Order: sequence, then C-alpha cells, then structure tokens
Amino acid sequence: MLETRNLTIRFGGHVAVNAVSCRFEPGTLTAIVGPNGAGKTTYFNLISGQLPASEGQVLLGGRDLSSLPASARTRAGLGRAFQLTNLFPNLSVLENVRLAVQATLEGPHRRGLNLWSIWSDHARLTARAHEILESVAMSSQRDLPVASLPHGDQRKLEVALLMALDAQVYMFDEPTAGMSHDEAPVILNLIRQLKQDKTKTILLVEHKMDVVRELADRIIVLHNGTLVADGEPAEVIASPVVQEAYLGVSKEPA
Ligand SMILES: Nc1ncnc2c1ncn2[C@@H]1O[C@H](COP(=O)(O)OP(=O)(O)O)[C@@H](O)[C@H]1O
Ligand SMILES: [Mg+2]
Repeated sequence: MLETRNLTIRFGGHVAVNAVSCRFEPGTLTAIVGPNGAGKTTYFNLISGQLPASEGQVLLGGRDLSSLPASARTRAGLGRAFQLTNLFPNLSVLENVRLAVQATLEGPHRRGLNLWSIWSDHARLTARAHEILESVAMSSQRDLPVASLPHGDQRKLEVALLMALDAQVYMFDEPTAGMSHDEAPVILNLIRQLKQDKTKTILLVEHKMDVVRELADRIIVLHNGTLVADGEPAEVIASPVVQEAYLGVSKEPA
C-alpha cells in the first residue's frame, strides 16, 4: 500500500500541496482531480521524489521512502510515466525493455562477474522482455528503433518499461494529453489492462470526466493543494465541492 502522511510543499509563501494524508490500496485505481493549479502534478512530484517535501512522509508497503531520491523510489516500486523521457529513442523496442528488466537485477542481488551468471541473466531477462512485449501487444515491433514508432506506441512502451521495472504503483498524469483521437484509446486500454492486475496500485490525474467515471474506483479532489473530497466516483462527482471546483473548468453536459 502507498500512503502519504501530511505531505506538504511550500514554494515561498505558496502552499502547493497542503498536508495531504491519503492511502492507496493495491487493486484500486484512484483518480486525482481538481482545477488547474490545484497541486495534482506537484503531489505526484512529491510521491515520486522529483520534489523534496517541506513536511510529511511517503510510505510504500510500510517503508518510509521520504528521504530517498527519485531513482531509489523507482527501484522501490514507484512507477511514474514521464511522457517519453524514460525512453532511449535510438535503441530498439526490445532493447529498451531489456534494459529496464536488467535494472531490476542490479543492486544487492547482483551476482559476481562469472560467465555462467552473465549468460543465464541475459537469457532470463531477454525472456522476460519478450513476455512483457507480448502482454502489451508490441512483439511485432520489437526490433524497430523507438524513435520510429508512432507517438501512441511510444507512450505505450513507456508503460511497458514500468512493468519491466516491476512497478507496484503506476502514476499517470494526464496520460492522453497531447494524443490524437486515434492514440488516446491505446494508452487507456493499457491502463484498463493494468487494472486487471489486483496487486497494482494505480493513480491517475485526469480531467476528462468520462474517462474518470469509467476507470476510477475512487476519486480524490485537490483544491488549492488541499484534499477536499475523497470517495466513490458517483458520490464525489455529485458533491457540491466538485461541482464548484469544476465550474468553468471542465463543464460537461448533464
Ligand atoms: N517548481 C515550482 N516552483 C514554484 N511553484 C510551483 C512549482 N511547481 C508547481 N508550482 C505551483 O504549485 C501550484 C500547483 O501546480 P501543479 O501541481 O502543477 O497543479 P496541477 O497539476 O493541479 O494543475 C501552482 O500554483 C504552481 O504554479
Ligand atoms: Mg498538472
């Protein structure tokens, strides 16, 4: 389980995220909504370690990650999709996934430099990379350089890398932003597929309410950095605070 306790960041006098305490259970997808500037992206930055908290903690499975840099939080299981900055564009699809799988072998469990372990590791991680590509239906593209893939497939590959890293938590910040009408369903289907794995915890910042309604098990609302609502989607969407926060921001026909 992922938990934030009293998580806070101040930029000068401005409190962008204000004492947010929240728990996110495996097997759930939580949508984080709120108007522009509410602190959603900043909250993600505090969880993933891109920004240092002014106060509060981030815990994963009871382990306090608060003092760890972003790279160590990734190794601990926090997976954040970064809109392509994680990819090596000149390497093939397979090589990208294999490098991510390899990253999970590094650290204390890495064995010594003997030929047998190098060979068996290589075989094992290649097999795992193939398995992941199959699960995201990208096997046929495995030998293509990433730069040659359509944008939607690059975004999909980025999620495959999080799978390869064995992420426990998947964080998506407006995953369909900048995507064409044809590309958006690709990434949404992948999120649907991830949702089937009840060991994973998914956080989704999304302003399209139809997407939120379909995918979320729960919605939390941030407003001026503060958590102002938390509950079942239908209940939260109908609440006065959301109706008010979204007025003029994401107004939809009833
Ligand atoms: N690095 C930063 N320095 C100063 N202010 C920041 C920084 N990052 C975010 N903010 C401010 O924090 C507030 C929340 O921003 P953000 O988390 O991007 O909102 P959202 O993602 O909900 O639209 C905004 O007022 C924004 O200007
Ligand atoms: Mg944002």
